[in-house]
Amino acid sequence: MSLETLSPVVVADSSPSVGFDAAAFDRCVMPTYGRFPLAIARGEGCRLWDTDGKSYLDFVAGIATCTLGHAHPALVEAVTQQIQTLHHVSNLYYIPQQGDLAQWLTQHSCADFAFFCNSGAEANEGAIKLARKYAHTVQGIQNPVIITANASFHGRTLATVTATGQPKYQQNFSPLVPGFHYVPYNDIAALESAIAQLDATERQVAAILLEPLQGEGGVRPGEINYFKRIRQLCDEKGILLILDEVQVGIGRTGKLWGYENLGIEPDIFTSAKGLAGGIPIGAMLCKAFCNVFAPGDHASTFGGNPFVCAVALAVCKTLVRNDLLTNALETRPTATDGITGNRHSIPHPYL
Ligand SMILES: Cc1ncc(COP(=O)(O)O)c(C=O)c1O
Repeated sequence: MSLETLSPVVVADSSPSVGFDAAAFDRCVMPTYGRFPLAIARGEGCRLWDTDGKSYLDFVAGIATCTLGHAHPALVEAVTQQIQTLHHVSNLYYIPQQGDLAQWLTQHSCADFAFFCNSGAEANEGAIKLARKYAHTVQGIQNPVIITANASFHGRTLATVTATGQPKYQQNFSPLVPGFHYVPYNDIAALESAIAQLDATERQVAAILLEPLQGEGGVRPGEINYFKRIRQLCDEKGILLILDEVQVGIGRTGKLWGYENLGIEPDIFTSAKGLAGGIPIGAMLCKAFCNVFAPGDHASTFGGNPFVCAVALAVCKTLVRNDLLTNALETRPTATDGITGNRHSIPHPYL
């Protein structure tokens, strides 16, 4: 979800942090975010402290990102160990930490190969490029179209903001990238009709890109029957199914991947946010049959460097070793009841 974009409602008892000069900040940082009058100085576990020393329970978690919370010992150890050893080398060389992370991810998902980058948008860009190359070289499609959903969110680069089915994010950024078509989410009849329409004269539909659960679209879970039928359609027609796991992957639904809730497997999926627990990373993963990238097709200077891969691997291993997914499922009812029960007394604009 892109909560950064919502205009914060200033809560009644809040006043700008006195220990921070917001005016100086605003004089030189571009105003792309609506910000609370709050500057965070420190975090530990699920607690944050602002520059005035006031403490908060952190329900935002860096927007689905701080998988282990703040200053978790496993995170601190991985960061410290790797930064003291080797933080960055080019992908001109083999990077063992990248291979180890790819191995963990492929062993813990339906994918066979991974590509690493720095953010969710960049991971989705990679997926879009992979689908287009597959369309041109395998499907024989000259003008590939990727179907996405209304109310979706896939990122802010030009291709991913075009993939995002929300005109408010696209306004003033035209011309958008060609080759996208939008359908209502969870509506199989609309999807089937769109495919039929697009393919009426020549085969065009290369891929369907969806979130397993729409975050920005209102925390709307994908329906199992909808996704099962999509999987069937994709298999019948040779269409790639791409799932955007940037928000819901890495345990956000109590499963490692959102698609595990839907009883299907994607051909390509993307991850970012929580994958390295708050250190910038993106990953695009695919099954062997659609692994059509060759040297030179795609790249990222920082993508998969030793530092971020070592940290991500430590986060992923801790998630499994400490059985945090079971813990999330077990504590979910208490947290949900607590939040919904108190929703009128908690001074938060999003509750
Ligand atoms: C589902 C989804 N995809 C992609 C993105 C973009 O990720 P990033 O901000 O890391 O580029 C987001 C971010 O909120 C998201 O929620």
